[in-house]
Amino acid sequence: MIDISMIPVTVQKGLTMKYALITGCDHGLGLALASELLSRGYYTVACRLNPGEQQIDALCHSFPEQSEIHTLDISRDDSVTQLKEDTGHLPCLDLLINCAGILGVMENSPEEPLDFDRMLSVINVNAVGTLRVTSALLPLVEKSQDKTILNISSEAGSIQDCWRKGWFGYCMSKSANNMQGTLIHNWLRSKGGQVIQMHPGHVATFMRGHLDLTATVTPAASAKGILKTVLDQSIPVRDIPLYLDYTGKELRY
Ligand SMILES: NC(=O)c1ccc[n+]([C@@H]2O[C@H](COP(=O)([O-])OP(=O)(O)OC[C@H]3O[C@@H](n4cnc5c(N)ncnc54)[C@H](OP(=O)(O)O)[C@@H]3O)[C@@H](O)[C@H]2O)c1
Repeated sequence: MIDISMIPVTVQKGLTMKYALITGCDHGLGLALASELLSRGYYTVACRLNPGEQQIDALCHSFPEQSEIHTLDISRDDSVTQLKEDTGHLPCLDLLINCAGILGVMENSPEEPLDFDRMLSVINVNAVGTLRVTSALLPLVEKSQDKTILNISSEAGSIQDCWRKGWFGYCMSKSANNMQGTLIHNWLRSKGGQVIQMHPGHVATFMRGHLDLTATVTPAASAKGILKTVLDQSIPVRDIPLYLDYTGKELRY
């Protein structure tokens, strides 16, 4: 007797397989997004920074026909070029999720000592790294029907609603992430696609170096909300990318 719950939903419904790639799947939100996409029947390309982080192996092991794992450091050109080569066999990418990110120093004010080198490395990952991946994989995105790029940004990238007096590297990097997403959106929308900038909520992950107990949402709940918002309803394509939170609420740039 076949257990139908083991068959991907797309296959059950006779639909064509959809392809997604996610960065930053070592743990946290990226891992939860991979889990959610796999159970939705997506062929999921999971990228992780550190091969020693093996939760993603355990997850993908349950979906052997529907997943592959790559090591990826989005701060490095050579690593992203390697990913491009290693994913050349994919027919397309319907959904590219740029999730990898780092926090850097959480200064409370400009009077504290500022670590400019650290700031540059945060910008290199969160803003330039996101663009590095998008630029390398755009030909695959362009081959798909959906042509959707989802950048995990943050409310911290909003200039109009900025309330902090520090976190320079993180806030500047997420504003720059929003800008690179807008430039890509301007190009992609003429081809029938779109970019979405997403704030995942205050998520209980280890981004601060320890489990953030002040967080208000679990990675699983955030991932479910994000994919419900992006995949389960028809969302309009605007002149600038939608900037949403994981519940679908719109944020101001
Ligand atoms: N948690 C929140 O409240 C919150 C709020 C707003 C936005 N976000 C955003 O959500 C995204 C996911 O963060 P998270 O909360 O899930 O934190 P996380 O658990 O620390 O996840 C970040 C992921 O990115 C990976 N990563 C770091 N540097 C990388 C690099 N150079 N190349 C490739 N991967 C790299 C990390 O790998 P390692 O950990 O193995 O180094 C980890 O897998 C980030 O973009 C973050 O800015 C989070």
